[in-house]
Amino acid sequence: MKSELLLVLVLSLCVSSKPLSKKRTYNKLLVISFDGFRWDYDQDVDTPNLDALVKEGVKAKYINPPAITMTSPSHFTTITGRWIQDHGVVHNLMFNSSTGLIIPHKRTLTKSEWWDNGVLPLWITAQNQGLKTASFFYPGGGVNYSGQAVDRSFVQSYGHPYDNDTEWRQNIDTVMRWYSEEDFHFVTLYYGEPDNVGHVKGPETTERRKIIEQIDRLIGYLRKAIEKNGLTDRLNVLITSDHGMTTVKKSPGFEEILLSKYMRFLNLSEFELLDYGGFGMITPKEGKEQEIYDALKNAHPNLKVYKKEEIPGQFYIAKNQRIQPIVLFADLGFNLNSRIILYINKGDHGFSNHEMDMKMIFRAFGPDLKKNFLAEPFDSVSIYPLMCKLLGVTPEPNNGSLSDTTGMIVEAFDAGGRIKLPFTLLTLMIIILTVI
Ligand SMILES: *[C@@H]1O[C@H](CO)[C@@H](O)[C@H](O)[C@H]1NC(C)=O
Ligand SMILES: *[C@@H]1O[C@H](CO)[C@@H](O)[C@H](O)[C@H]1NC(C)=O
Ligand SMILES: *[C@@H]1O[C@H](CO)[C@@H](O)[C@H](O)[C@H]1NC(C)=O
Ligand SMILES: *[C@@H]1O[C@H](CO)[C@@H](O)[C@H](O)[C@H]1NC(C)=O
Ligand SMILES: *[C@@H]1O[C@H](CO)[C@@H](O)[C@H](O)[C@H]1NC(C)=O
Ligand SMILES: [Zn+2]
Repeated sequence: MKSELLLVLVLSLCVSSKPLSKKRTYNKLLVISFDGFRWDYDQDVDTPNLDALVKEGVKAKYINPPAITMTSPSHFTTITGRWIQDHGVVHNLMFNSSTGLIIPHKRTLTKSEWWDNGVLPLWITAQNQGLKTASFFYPGGGVNYSGQAVDRSFVQSYGHPYDNDTEWRQNIDTVMRWYSEEDFHFVTLYYGEPDNVGHVKGPETTERRKIIEQIDRLIGYLRKAIEKNGLTDRLNVLITSDHGMTTVKKSPGFEEILLSKYMRFLNLSEFELLDYGGFGMITPKEGKEQEIYDALKNAHPNLKVYKKEEIPGQFYIAKNQRIQPIVLFADLGFNLNSRIILYINKGDHGFSNHEMDMKMIFRAFGPDLKKNFLAEPFDSVSIYPLMCKLLGVTPEPNNGSLSDTTGMIVEAFDAGGRIKLPFTLLTLMIIILTVI
């Protein structure tokens, strides 16, 4: 009698779990990156729409960029879930230390040889698993990976205005059509602000606050557009950035770092990437490494010099051939000038990712994300497994941890679909054990 009951139970459970084992559908995902959006930029401006997202979605107090706090290295860490030493995009500039060639950032955006180093960004992985993806100005979205392009990609052209409100909204409308009319699953959308204003005017200025208000209005526009396009229950949105911004420290208040005061470039250096914020590299002339190192080691109180082999392992940058033998980091706000101080920026980044001024924002909302959920700070490398989970994509090997972000996802997400099966088996076992 007891065993018959058990059989009925087992059978009914098997039947009921059958439809669940078929492939479920996942909601769509939009990732928006506002370049240089420091974690606390919403705290000295009125931002009703971003504030509403705190209640209606997930907020992390801040997130940590990778150790080279620059646009291309950091964006590529987000989209690959890999440390910089693994994905190889070590700078905004493409360079060749033997030929001396340097290609400016905008022109790297269509150079596959700079980005395609054997690590696949999520667009390509998702496409290989049957999803339709697009990149709207997102760095790295405009090139080919193992010969494969992103399904649709727009690359920001040289001289493109950063702060055109009308265009910002048009870009939202375009992306909404991709989802609602063309069934795209995953889109990354990039805006060049507030980075531009942060550089030109400085982070602690009225102009920066104005841009944050403009971004806030765009978030309001986005939410209306999502509703208008019937995507409220089908689209998850992550809002993030690539690094923060700090005020550049200049003379007479500070002693600027001018490296030619300490070393003779002509005699010692084969190649260098300097005059670009707080991170720099030098390729010594044959046999001159120690000489450069000794010359710079204690040269300036706000300058840190590493031989490649002494770069701390937790920076996750050293194990890449593009990292040159001498690596320089300047303390927060100090720029690395080579021969003359021509730096006109009032704000900059590229400083240690431990500095609070380099931390960036993270917000998330949508049907699979909790409401009013405050997440602990985490490394941006962990955005990747979160994106994969939300999209139902099997991730590539990566350096992120789902445990950093899994608490943001509603419980119902795991309760429905493919991952139900083990649950059902577990329930079954418990019932059998109870009955027996
Ligand atoms: C640099 O350029 C040289 C000469 O064109 C080439 O042989 C070499 O492979 C290049 N190095 C890198 C890292 O691209
Ligand atoms: C990517 O590959 C396609 C097809 O082979 C080619 O037409 C396109 O120019 C390539 N794009 C880049 C940026 O190399
Ligand atoms: C802003 O963008 C709109 C729409 O793309 C365009 O018509 C307008 O000319 C742009 N304004 C400026 C100042 O570039
Ligand atoms: C630096 O290089 C120049 C020309 O290459 C040479 O004349 C000079 O002696 C060198 N100076 C030092 C200190 O090695
Ligand atoms: C990062 O992930 C890759 C791929 O799984 C792995 O090979 C590498 O060792 C990881 N890096 C670290 C520092 O754990
Ligand atoms: Zn940036």
